[in-house]
Amino acid sequence: MKGRLAHAPEPDRYAVFGNPVAHSRSPGIHAEFARMTGETLEYQSIESPLDGFACCVRTFMAGGGRGCNVTTPFKLQALAIADECRPHAAMAGAANCLKFEDGRIIAENFDGIGLVNDIRRNLGYEIAGRNVLLLGAGGAVRGAILPFLEARPARVAIANRCADEALSLKAAFANLGAFEASGFDDVEGAPFDLVVNATSASLFGQLPAIPARLFHHDTLAYDLVYGKGLTPFMSFALTSGAGRAVDGVGMVVEQAAEAFAWWRGVRPETGTVIQSLQASLPQIG
Ligand code: ATR
Repeated sequence: MKGRLAHAPEPDRYAVFGNPVAHSRSPGIHAEFARMTGETLEYQSIESPLDGFACCVRTFMAGGGRGCNVTTPFKLQALAIADECRPHAAMAGAANCLKFEDGRIIAENFDGIGLVNDIRRNLGYEIAGRNVLLLGAGGAVRGAILPFLEARPARVAIANRCADEALSLKAAFANLGAFEASGFDDVEGAPFDLVVNATSASLFGQLPAIPARLFHHDTLAYDLVYGKGLTPFMSFALTSGAGRAVDGVGMVVEQAAEAFAWWRGVRPETGTVIQSLQASLPQIG
C-alpha cells in the first residue's frame, strides 16, 4: 500500500428544496436521524429559483444527490418531474419526497402518513372505529384521505369553507372508500372524536368558520401547522369542549422519519427529535 492514500467514501447527499427554504427544520431533523442510526449522509437546504425547480433538482442529481424533500411551492412540480409516482403522491396530487435511482426520479408523499403515525404512535390515539372530520379540501386533505381510510375509522367526513370543493373531492376519490363531504355549517353526525384542521387558515392567524358542535370532551383537535403557538383553531376547539388540542410538530418529524426510512432502509426513533423540536418553538398555551 506504499504511496497510496486512503480516502473516506463521499457521504450520500440529500436536500430539501423550497423557496423560501431557510425556515425548514428538515436539515436538523435528518442530521439527528443520521447521528442516531449511524448512517453517513449529508443533508442541505437548497433555495431553488421559482422558475427553475426541475433544473435545480437535476443538477443536484447529477452531482451525486440520492433524494430530496420538497416544500412550498414546489410540491406539484415535484410530482410532474417524476418518472414514477407512488400511490400516496398520486392521491395527493403532490410530492414531498423524491428518491433518485438509476437516473430515475420516484415521487412519494409522506405528509398524510406522518399525520396518521403521529396521532397513533405519539399521541396514543387509535383511529380505528372513531369518527373523523378533516377540515379543508386542498392538497393537505387530498394527501390525508388515503392514510386515514387505511386506519379504518368508523367514518370520515370532509368539510370545507367552499362545499363544492369538498364534494369534488368526494366524487374524485369515490373508489377509495366511503366518506362524507359538506360545507362547515351542514356537517352531519357531529360531534367527532378527531377533528383535523387541514385548511391553511392557521398560517394567516385565522379561524375557519366552524361550529362549536363539532367537539366533545374526548375530541382530539389537531392543527397541521406548527411553530405558531396556540392557533385560533386549537383555542376554539378547547373553548368548545375538546379534550385535547395539538399542533403538527409530530407530523413534521414523522413524515421525515418515513422519508429517511425510504431512502436509507432504517427507521429512526422519533420521540426525542419531536421533543427537542418542540422545545425550540413557541410554546402552546
Ligand atoms: P394546502 O395545499 O395547504 O392544502 P390549498 O390547496 O391552497 O393548501 O388549500 C387551502 C385550503 O384551506 C382550502 O380548503 C381553503 O378553503 P377554500 O377551498 O374554501 O378556499 C382552506 N382555507 C384557507 N383559508 C381559510 C379560512 N380562513 N377559513 C377556512 N378555510 C380556509
